[in-house]
Amino acid sequence: MPMKVQKIVAKKEAGEKLVMATAYDYHQARLADRAGVDMLLVGDSLGRYFQGGDSYLPVTVDEVIYHCRAVARGREQALIVAGMPFGSYHVSPEQAISNALRLIKEGGADAVKLEVAQNMAPTVKVLTQAGLPVMAHIGRMPQRVSLWEDQPVCGTDEESAWELAEAAQAMEDAGAFAIFMERVAREAAALITEKVDVPTIGIGCGPDCDGQALVFHQLLGLDGAENPPQHVRRFCNGDALFSQGLQEYCKAVRNGSFPEASHSFPMEEGEAKRLY
Ligand code: KIV
Repeated sequence: MPMKVQKIVAKKEAGEKLVMATAYDYHQARLADRAGVDMLLVGDSLGRYFQGGDSYLPVTVDEVIYHCRAVARGREQALIVAGMPFGSYHVSPEQAISNALRLIKEGGADAVKLEVAQNMAPTVKVLTQAGLPVMAHIGRMPQRVSLWEDQPVCGTDEESAWELAEAAQAMEDAGAFAIFMERVAREAAALITEKVDVPTIGIGCGPDCDGQALVFHQLLGLDGAENPPQHVRRFCNGDALFSQGLQEYCKAVRNGSFPEASHSFPMEEGEAKRLY
């Protein structure tokens, strides 16, 4: 039975750490869900890790819906959070509601995630008042990074740490059930986690958040990068493992050791003789 947002919030209250990972297809969802991940994020990072692009901006609502559907078929217990892509909630609160409804209704998502600054609190409020579970993304915002100079770490001085804490509080007040923080300095992330009652999920924000998120391909070493970014631990070397399997496949086909007799399907008794 899939989790509801109340269970995610209850885990913070019980002092249980939350685990989130991105998933973009059925198999990734199935693996992460069976491993015990609490939340599957179908985010616009799919623009990079699924589509191979260098920006998240071109990802559309239709594409996130398509990937959500595949992920929904692979999950049993985890909560599915759909990332709202660039341009899908910026025009008006009505646009935000109609796209969030599509992600939930057509995609099968349980909640939506929006990259927000404090001035987006009214949009978050409109969504939550419509009964839609919202995770508010603060700190570094990948959608903005394509348009503005990257700020690799946020909240590194007192003023910006308090600004983030105020933004997080504004999102909680607007009804967000969780705060997603990306690359916020450890002490600032700890302050935010202490100030808000809802769970904080960090990616590159240190160990004091209520939960952690990582990109599927990065945590499994499937991202093709020589070295992972500072905030990532590779829990296995997926690239090496997969490429070894594929090289062995090529070799076996070329040297004739695959397929074996057991991999093929014989004709009915006596029928083969009649071919010649
Ligand atoms: O929505 C997303 O895909 C993200 C990544 C940074 C994990 O926020």
